[in-house]
Amino acid sequence: MRRKAIVANWKMNMDSASIGEFCSKIQDMTIKDDVIAGICVPALYFTQVKTALDKSKIKIGAQNAYFEEKGAYTGEISAAMLKDAGAELCIVGHSERRQLFGDTDEIVSKKLKAVLSKEITPILCVGEVLAQREEGTHKDHVKKQIESAFSGIGKEDAKKIIVAYEPIWAIGTGKVASAEDAEEMCGFIRSILALKYGDIAESILIQYGGSVKLENISELMKMQNIDGALVGGASLEAQSFESLVMKA
Ligand code: 13P
Repeated sequence: MRRKAIVANWKMNMDSASIGEFCSKIQDMTIKDDVIAGICVPALYFTQVKTALDKSKIKIGAQNAYFEEKGAYTGEISAAMLKDAGAELCIVGHSERRQLFGDTDEIVSKKLKAVLSKEITPILCVGEVLAQREEGTHKDHVKKQIESAFSGIGKEDAKKIIVAYEPIWAIGTGKVASAEDAEEMCGFIRSILALKYGDIAESILIQYGGSVKLENISELMKMQNIDGALVGGASLEAQSFESLVMKA
C-alpha cells in the first residue's frame, strides 16, 4: 500500500508572525502512520519553521533549488544549502516557476537531479494549461514533461520522487479537476513510469494539486492512483492544513 503525502505549498505567502502562530497550532497535530505531512516554505523562513516544528513528524521543504552546487549565481539557493539547513522536501518544476521564471524541461531535469543527489525528496510538478486540455493534447504534454524529467534517472532514484499532477487551470482558481479526471491523469502518469521502470511505478507517489480543500479532498483521496495532495491556498491556515492531513 502506498502512503499518502499531503504537502502544503505556501508559495510567496506568510510572514514571521503568521508562521509563528501557524506552527504553534500544529506542532502537536496527529499524523497517521500511512500519511506523510509536509510544508514547503519560502526559503527565508525555512529555519524558523524547522526550529518551531523540530519535535513534529512534519517534513519541512523548499519550493525551488538551483542545480549548481555553489558559485556566482546571485539570488539562488542550492540543493546543498537546503540540505545543510535540514530540508527533507523540495518542489521542482512548479508551473509558476515554469511559466514565470523560465524553468524549462531541461532546467527542471537538472534541478531534479541536484535535489536527488542531496537526498532530499523532490516533488516534481507537471500539468497542462486549459487550452491543451480543451484541444486534447494534455496527455502528450504531461508525457513529455515526465519523460524529460525522468530521463537519466535510474530505478533507485525514481522511487524517491513524488510526482504532483497539477493542471494549471485548477491552480488558485477554485476550479478543481473532477476526481475522475485527476485519477485518469495520475493513472496515465503511472503507466508512463511503468513503461520505464516496471513494477517500481507502483511504489511512486503521485499527488494531485489544484484547488484542493476540505470540501473535495476525501473524494480525490479515494482514487486508486492519487496518493495525496499538494495544496496551496487551503494550506495557509493551520486548522485547514491539519484537517486536510487528517482526511488523507
Ligand atoms: P491551490 O491549492 O491554491 O490551487 O494551489 C495549488 C498549487 O499550486 C500547489 O502547488
